[in-house]
Amino acid sequence: MVRLDMYREYILDHYKQPHNFGTLDDPDISHEDVNHLCGDEIRIDVKLDAEGRVADVRFKGRGCAISQASASILTDTIKGMSLDEIKELSKDDVVEYLGIPLGPVRLKCALLSLQVLHAGVYAYAPPEGPGAAVSPRQGTADTRHPGKGPVQQKASE
Ligand code: FES
Repeated sequence: MVRLDMYREYILDHYKQPHNFGTLDDPDISHEDVNHLCGDEIRIDVKLDAEGRVADVRFKGRGCAISQASASILTDTIKGMSLDEIKELSKDDVVEYLGIPLGPVRLKCALLSLQVLHAGVYAYAPPEGPGAAVSPRQGTADTRHPGKGPVQQKASE
């Protein structure tokens, strides 16, 4: 019980004072999506370093404590990760880092940021050739419409 209370406090802390909140001026990946059950939205911007690892990340959106805390923790988690490592992140990782039991509705809230991140990462096409400029549009895809990628399906299992 003490352990559960500790995790609830941890989630509330991230909700009240989210880490990495805001947007990036020139992101390599930028994606946003909504939780179709409630209409809440999250946008995630990612800047990559020369090795293709996450150099900086921001999120912005509105939603419940679980969705916002999950986005805050997720953005902390992915700093320094490669895109392949991000693709490996799963529903189980999110449940583990939140540390509380989640029913199906709350699970959707918790997974919203991972869905957004995965959709942006899967849509990202690295620039070609040395010194090629990276366009922020390259990582942008709108999954609010038909043609959802594998992440959308995976996260809503
Ligand atoms: Fe909307 Fe949780 S109630 S994301």
